[in-house]
Amino acid sequence: MTRPVAPGGLLADACARLAAAGVDSPRADAEWLLADVLRVPRGRLILVDEVDPRAATAFEAAVARRAAREPLQHILGRVEFGAGDATVVLAVGPGVFTPRPETELLLAWAVASAPPGALVADLCSGSGALAVGLAAARPDLRVLAVELSASARTWLRRNIAAQPLAVARRVAVVAADVTEPAALREAVVAQAGPVGWPVDAPLDLIVSNPPYVPLRVGDAPTPVSPEVRADPPEAVFGGDDGMAVIVPMLASIRDLAAAGAPVGIEHDDSTGPAVARALAAAGFDDVRATADLAGRPRFATARAPGSTDHRAGSGEC
Ligand SMILES: C[S@@+](CC[C@H](N)C(=O)[O-])C[C@H]1O[C@@H](n2cnc3c(N)ncnc32)[C@H](O)[C@@H]1O
Repeated sequence: MTRPVAPGGLLADACARLAAAGVDSPRADAEWLLADVLRVPRGRLILVDEVDPRAATAFEAAVARRAAREPLQHILGRVEFGAGDATVVLAVGPGVFTPRPETELLLAWAVASAPPGALVADLCSGSGALAVGLAAARPDLRVLAVELSASARTWLRRNIAAQPLAVARRVAVVAADVTEPAALREAVVAQAGPVGWPVDAPLDLIVSNPPYVPLRVGDAPTPVSPEVRADPPEAVFGGDDGMAVIVPMLASIRDLAAAGAPVGIEHDDSTGPAVARALAAAGFDDVRATADLAGRPRFATARAPGSTDHRAGSGEC
């Protein structure tokens, strides 16, 4: 290409190519990629009259990567994630789970449910989507971001460091396994304690988007898209039934949470009843299911054992 070209034609060709490759949202992805190459917001593409040859070549390379089903967010190197007005930009790529838009529902619940001044934990933090999103949306919160994978923690620390200091200083990384209650408690004290947080106090809210996809559907392996295969397997799969991390994690949550503290756990479409049963069996109160806008069961909420909301004054004797 030696001459400037019209963006409309470039986008139409890219859209057809991505659709043929099986990409779910070909037009939107083509627009994101062109906007990224041109360094303009996607909503401003309409104002672009022509694309110079160098940018057109870069766009062509980006479309080829997407047509090979590399995740859009890996090509862009980032994802936007947030609740309400507070959106954060997170760096993502190989070695860390790409945050999904449906998890923004769980973030919105946590933003609305955390008591004032709460000490919060995000268990299975990955890129820090929930931890950083919470700290950005609620300037009164301090958040423990607990993550087992060393490669995910590299992305997590990078994403915390990229935030304004007023946000970054309220998120502490804890390297620990959420299925090991005693070791998790020790790690919280050893790693968050030195930064001066009252980590021996019970936590006021716990949120988690753990690995939860069942490895098998009946006798067959669960089919997953190429984009999901780009996520680390340990971030996606929760054992044969999708519950391998969630069930033991409940013991850790009971150990860390204040009596009555709100708890929110994202789960697979197919495991809503199993998660509700596990929460009830572990003594959690007020177990509720929340569906997404399409009506799919998306996350469970409950209150930590010990009954009443420890913060709310009822006014009764
Ligand atoms: C589905 S990803 C969610 C990441 C992030 N919370 C989000 O919503 O985008 C699950 C994360 O849990 C981490 N993980 C898996 N097993 C874990 C365990 N036993 N203890 C702590 N983290 C774990 C994975 O490395 C991965 O980063």
